[in-house]
Amino acid sequence: MDKFVVRGGNPLLGTIKVSGAKNSALPCMAAAILTEDEVILENIPQVRDIETERKLLESMGAEVELGYGRAQHRTTIQCSVLSDPEAKYEIVKTMRASSLVLGPLVARAGIARVAVPGGCAIGGRPIDLHLKGLEAMGATITQDHGYIEAKADRLKGAHILFDKITVTGTEDLLMAATLADGESVLENAAQEPEVTDLAAMLTSMGAQIEGAGTSTIRVKGVSKLHGTRYRINPDRIEAGTFIIAGAISGGDLNVDCCNPHHLEAVIMKLQECGVRLDVGKESIRVRSEGKLQAADVSTVEYPGFPTDMQAQYMALATQAKGTSVITENIFENRFMHVSELTRMGANIKVDGRSATVRGKSPLSAAAVMCSDLRASASLVLAALVADGETILDRVYHIDRGYERIEEKLRGVGAQIRRMGEVFGKR
Ligand code: EPZ
Repeated sequence: MDKFVVRGGNPLLGTIKVSGAKNSALPCMAAAILTEDEVILENIPQVRDIETERKLLESMGAEVELGYGRAQHRTTIQCSVLSDPEAKYEIVKTMRASSLVLGPLVARAGIARVAVPGGCAIGGRPIDLHLKGLEAMGATITQDHGYIEAKADRLKGAHILFDKITVTGTEDLLMAATLADGESVLENAAQEPEVTDLAAMLTSMGAQIEGAGTSTIRVKGVSKLHGTRYRINPDRIEAGTFIIAGAISGGDLNVDCCNPHHLEAVIMKLQECGVRLDVGKESIRVRSEGKLQAADVSTVEYPGFPTDMQAQYMALATQAKGTSVITENIFENRFMHVSELTRMGANIKVDGRSATVRGKSPLSAAAVMCSDLRASASLVLAALVADGETILDRVYHIDRGYERIEEKLRGVGAQIRRMGEVFGKR
């Protein structure tokens, strides 16, 4: 089992580069199912979830190349034949975003079988809204032996009003609607940049989409989509994580190759805490002399403060003077990092969906356990300022969504090294 060893105390100095967005790459790779032509995607992050997506597409009959050489970070996908339109449990259980193949498979092949994605550390993660939308588009949905089957000779355009805002639900149905017969309206749709990224890629394939990035998306179905070469957005959550790394370590860090426009809520919140941020076109300079003020945070859908930044913000809040109340409104169990931060000396009390953080608490190094992707990032951030050497276990969680994070952080002065095999090195 991979571990990280982190010795705290070094301010981060220099330039750190952000990779492509995992949560854009996953739906965009699934979108390749919608055409028999070749699809090339660039700025693909070298993370475990992308490897899982490659295996998933190959298991259905797709040809997938994935290269990370200096010039690459590129995947080439061709779904000329989909011999087995099924997302198997062995793969789905490791990545619930596998449900993103549901809509494209029904739209392209007329049938999809997807293992019911189990929950994960942060919550039940149902996909009922994905299924409700496909039924509205004329698909017949059945479930047995742990698999969902969706069938339709050809989906028809529908007016779908989401009971809850769902990012992958919006993406799944957006992809399905591009090949449906007639017009679809997706109301109460997710506005995350990853939805807009996917819509831009689909449009480059010949889809007719209006309103992506707003709460109402209109799609005119077409009979076929063609191939494309498309570059994925930078990862706004990785960028936000590095901004907090610069702030918590009291450094002077240039977070490069990012899109500051996607981080407005995070930037404003950190400025409220007293972090000095100079925002450029594709970079953000972070300076902090370590004097941080407490500030409350409530996670909401984009463009509000993202749930995927909640755990990282909590690590920073332990170092801020005063009391920060952090409310998690999106997932029912996204405080798995609290117990580990507390073991490092943080003063945090959880009451239902809110965590009250009292700071500034000096943190001391400890042996800690990673539980999910963003909780792991939170523990790395805490370890950067903890006194002594922190050992983080089960870092495969962090490898799911951060490309070689220990190398990137070491490059700007962090004392961090990995014990065990390195993901991605053959
Ligand atoms: C996406 O998950 C992201 N994953 C998550 O990032 C992110 O935390 C989440 O959106 C919220 O921003 C990917 O894009 C691959 P949701 P998703 O559907 O789509 C409920 C990370 O760290 N819901 O927007 O699964 C659901 O339970 C990951 O990179 C239903 O009830 O999240 C949740 O409470 C973690 N029924 C809320 O909606 C449904 O059919 C929002 O979930 C679908 C969702």
